Amino acid sequence: MHKDSSRLQIGILGCGPIAQAGHFDAVRKARNADLYAICDRADDLREAMQAVHQPQAAYADYDAMLADPKVDAVIVAVADQFHVPLALKALAAGKHVLVEKPLGVTIEECDSLGAQVEASGLVLQVGNNKRFDPGIAYARDFIQAEMGERMALKAWYCDSTYRYAMTDNVQPIMRTSAAALRPAGDPKADRRRYYPLTHGSHLVDMARYLMGEMVSVQARLVEKFGAYCWFTAVDFADGSVGHLDLTVAVRGDWEEGFTVYGEHGSVKARVHNPWFHKTSEVECFSSKDGVYRRPLGEDAHTYKRQVEGFAEVILQGVAQRGATAVDGAAALRALVAISRSVETGERVRLADVTGGV
Ligand SMILES: NC(=O)c1ccc[n+]([C@@H]2O[C@H](COP(=O)([O-])OP(=O)(O)OC[C@H]3O[C@@H](n4cnc5c(N)ncnc54)[C@H](O)[C@@H]3O)[C@@H](O)[C@H]2O)c1
Repeated sequence: MHKDSSRLQIGILGCGPIAQAGHFDAVRKARNADLYAICDRADDLREAMQAVHQPQAAYADYDAMLADPKVDAVIVAVADQFHVPLALKALAAGKHVLVEKPLGVTIEECDSLGAQVEASGLVLQVGNNKRFDPGIAYARDFIQAEMGERMALKAWYCDSTYRYAMTDNVQPIMRTSAAALRPAGDPKADRRRYYPLTHGSHLVDMARYLMGEMVSVQARLVEKFGAYCWFTAVDFADGSVGHLDLTVAVRGDWEEGFTVYGEHGSVKARVHNPWFHKTSEVECFSSKDGVYRRPLGEDAHTYKRQVEGFAEVILQGVAQRGATAVDGAAALRALVAISRSVETGERVRLADVTGGV
């Protein structure tokens, strides 16, 4: 495994499922980062992960990890409700932050975090790992450079009832702990809130990444046989339109993808479940030469590539491809607007919403 001579020293907060399935492996494999420290309040979980991943330091206390001068940046891999307060602590300690999606659970807390990022001069990136799928990145670059004016987007994200049969085979066997620190109550119990936050956050970020700012939405929700289907009509700031389909879960395979229509071409993408580390099948057609282009994207470990992208911004000062705090706040605003539209049946402007989903 190749490692650069200059590497970001990362401390990961949280030894839960996303750290075990994604971040530990991603940071250890990233060419420009090291897994310097891990942190979890649950002793049994932290000790088990310490034995497997061999970080140089392990902390039960987040403040103690933040006080370690060898930590350059932290990955905040804890429950959504903790993201903003714990990301703020990291910034106050002078650490760069890669925080899991969604950025937060209220628009106000996301905006206040954005202001702190701006004031700090530090880098904050949201864990919208799909931006680092080589096929999706290629599609975005094609749209920006080749496609001319955008006209329309259709995008879908449909979780599958067979999802755990698929992902359990490729993920490590998860360690759990009765001592894990979680928010009060069960934030996952209300599916009308939890699914948009956990899955919809990927879909709206993808829509913004490809099409730019969203101005308003009109959404409908159908609930049948324990499944939830949000169909959302979108107006984008550049005058283009969109249709977003969030369905959890389809009685079929994982279905994710998008189509974009533009002035000088079009894009089609079939996106795979991220745990397969398989590049999206993307075809970009240019009417300038009448040719379809399709990237191979041999390395589609999106969790590793998002860490590499994050480290490059900090170490080399390259432009940030990952979602910023402003992107994270705008994504949450879109999700809140979708929820308000479902409740009222009206078209809702993103600029008018407050609070959470
Ligand atoms: N990008 C993706 O594909 C993807 C996939 C799954 C989950 N996620 C996101 O990852 C996040 C975390 O998910 P999870 O299921 O791993 O969470 P989890 O709540 O199961 O685990 C978090 C761990 O962090 C520890 N912890 C929390 N606060 C702490 C503190 N202040 N100090 C020390 N330890 C603390 C807990 O003890 C727990 O072990 C969520 O926001 C989720 O949306 C992202």
